[in-house]
Amino acid sequence: MTQKTELKWWQRGVVYQIYPRSFKDTTGNGVGDLQGIIEKLDYLEHLGVDAIWLSPFYPSPMADFGYDVADYCDVEPLFGDLATFDRLAAAVHARGMKIIVDWVPNHTSDQHKWFIESRSSRDNPKRDWYIWRDPKPDGSPPNNWGSFFGGPAWTFDPSTGQYYMHQFVKEQPELNWRNPEVKAAMLDTLRFWMRRGVDGFRMDVIGLVIKDAALRDNPINPHAPVNLPENDLFSRLIQVYNMDQDEVHAVIREIRATLDEFPDRCGIGELWGPLDRWVKYYGEHGEGLHLPFNFRLMDGMGIKPMTWDAQTLRGVVDAMEATLPDFAWPNYVLGNHDRMRMVTRFGGEAQARVAAMLLLTLRGTPTLYYGDEIGIPDVPVPPEKIQDPQGVNLGAERSRDVCRTPMQWDASPNAGFCPPDVEPWLPFTADYATRNVALMSQDSTSILTLYHQLLAMRQETPALLSGSYRPLDEGVPVDCYVYLREEGETRYLVALNFAAEGRQVLLSAFGQGRVMLSTHLDREEDIALDALALRANEGVVVALR
Ligand code: GLC
Repeated sequence: MTQKTELKWWQRGVVYQIYPRSFKDTTGNGVGDLQGIIEKLDYLEHLGVDAIWLSPFYPSPMADFGYDVADYCDVEPLFGDLATFDRLAAAVHARGMKIIVDWVPNHTSDQHKWFIESRSSRDNPKRDWYIWRDPKPDGSPPNNWGSFFGGPAWTFDPSTGQYYMHQFVKEQPELNWRNPEVKAAMLDTLRFWMRRGVDGFRMDVIGLVIKDAALRDNPINPHAPVNLPENDLFSRLIQVYNMDQDEVHAVIREIRATLDEFPDRCGIGELWGPLDRWVKYYGEHGEGLHLPFNFRLMDGMGIKPMTWDAQTLRGVVDAMEATLPDFAWPNYVLGNHDRMRMVTRFGGEAQARVAAMLLLTLRGTPTLYYGDEIGIPDVPVPPEKIQDPQGVNLGAERSRDVCRTPMQWDASPNAGFCPPDVEPWLPFTADYATRNVALMSQDSTSILTLYHQLLAMRQETPALLSGSYRPLDEGVPVDCYVYLREEGETRYLVALNFAAEGRQVLLSAFGQGRVMLSTHLDREEDIALDALALRANEGVVVALR
C-alpha cells in the first residue's frame, strides 16, 4: 500500500472555500444560492478540488452576512432550504467529494430565539446563555474591550439594565460557553449536520469562545498604529483576556469528541496568534482540531503583514515545519473572505501564479478561495455601496466587500453569475469579459489552467502529497525559494523565483531532471540542474532522476 492511501481525506484533499452569496445565483435576485453551487459542482470536480467549505448559509438577518446565525439547524431562504442542502450534500458525495460547513459557535444573531429569550428578563432561564454584566458605577461598559468592527464590545440593554458582550457587531451577542447547557446545545448542532452527511466544520473564531473568567480589562497596546479611526478601540488594546485562554482547550477536546462520534469527520478552526500558542489547538497528543487554520503565508508572522519576499515566505514554512509535532498535519491558506485577494496582496497575477504553485506543492492541506483560480483581484466598491459592517464602521479601506465579489463564469452581461437584468450584490472586475471561467478554461496558458494542472499533478504525485519537505540553500539566490519533496525513490524539486528578473539556480549535486510544470505553462523539458534558469516570477516543478 502506498503512503497516499493511508492519508485521511482531509490530509490528501484540497479544500475550496465558497462564499455562497457570490458563487452562482439561480433565483435572479443578484445573490448566489445553494442550487447555484449544485450547478457548478461539475466545474469544481473538473478543476480537481476534493472538498468544498461553505461560508454560512443559515437563517440570518445578515448583519454580518451570515456570521450572525438565527438558527443553527436550518437554511436561510435566500440560499434555499434543507432539501436543497440535502441535494447538494448528495451531489457532492456522488462525486467522491466532501462537504465542510461553517460553524459559528462564539455568537448568535440577536434574532436567535435563545437571545430573544435571554434578553427578555434577568431571570429568564436563558439569561446566562449569553454574557450579561452590570454597568460600572458610572454607567459605562463592564470592561474596556473593543469590538473587531469598531466601538465597545458591549451594548446596554435598557429594559433589563445590563450590558451584553459582542466582539463583532452588536447584532452578534456572544454565547456563554461556560454554561453547560450552551455547550450541550451547540454540540448538538454539530450532530445535526453530521447526521445530514456533513464531513467537517470550519469553526468561526473558535479561540474566542472562552474569555477570562473575571473579564479583566485588556492592557493598552503601546505599539498601536497611529491614525486609527477613533472608534477602533480594539486595535488600541493587546488582546490578552478576550481570546486564546488556556481553558479553551478543554472545550475543544469536547468538540473533537463530538466529531469522533461519527467516522472520519474533520475539525478546522479559525485561529491566529503566535506559533507556540497556535500549535496547542492540535491538542497535546492530537486530541484537538485536525487543522487549526494556518494563515501565516497570507498574514505573515504577526510582526508585519506578508510581503512578496522569498525569505519571508520560506521563513513561515520552515518555522511551521519545525514547530509541528509528528501527529500534527500542516495546512496553508492564501485567501479567504476576510483578507485582501492574493493577486492584490502579492502585486499581480505573475506573483499569484508562483504563490499558487507554493500553496499546492507544500506539505500539508491547502485551502483555496473561490475566484483566486481565475485571478480575481480586490474589486473596488464605490463608498456608497459598501455592505460589510467592518467597512461601514471603520472606513472603506477596511471593507471586506472587495474580496467577496461574484464569481465570473462567462463573458455575458453579469458574467453568468446572475441574470442580465439584475444588479449583482457586488460588482465584477472591469475585465470580466476576459477574466472568466468559460474563456480561461479554453486558454492553455491561463492561471485557471495552471490551477487545474497543479491540482492534477498534486493528486497524482505521492511525493507532493505525503513526501518530506526540505528547503535548499546552496546555489539558491536569495530571492528564490527552492525545496525538495521526497517520498521513497521519488524526488520532486520546486523552484520559485520571486524576483522581477531572471535568476539561475545552481544545483550541480542534483544532475538531471524534467520540468513537469512551469507557472508560465510553456515548458515541459529535460534540464540539467547545475544551471536551472528561471524567468522573472517563474516557478517550476521538476521531477528529479
Ligand atoms: C470570522 C469570519 C468573519 C466574521 C467574524 C465574525 O472572522 O471569518 O467573516 O465577520 O468571524 O463571525
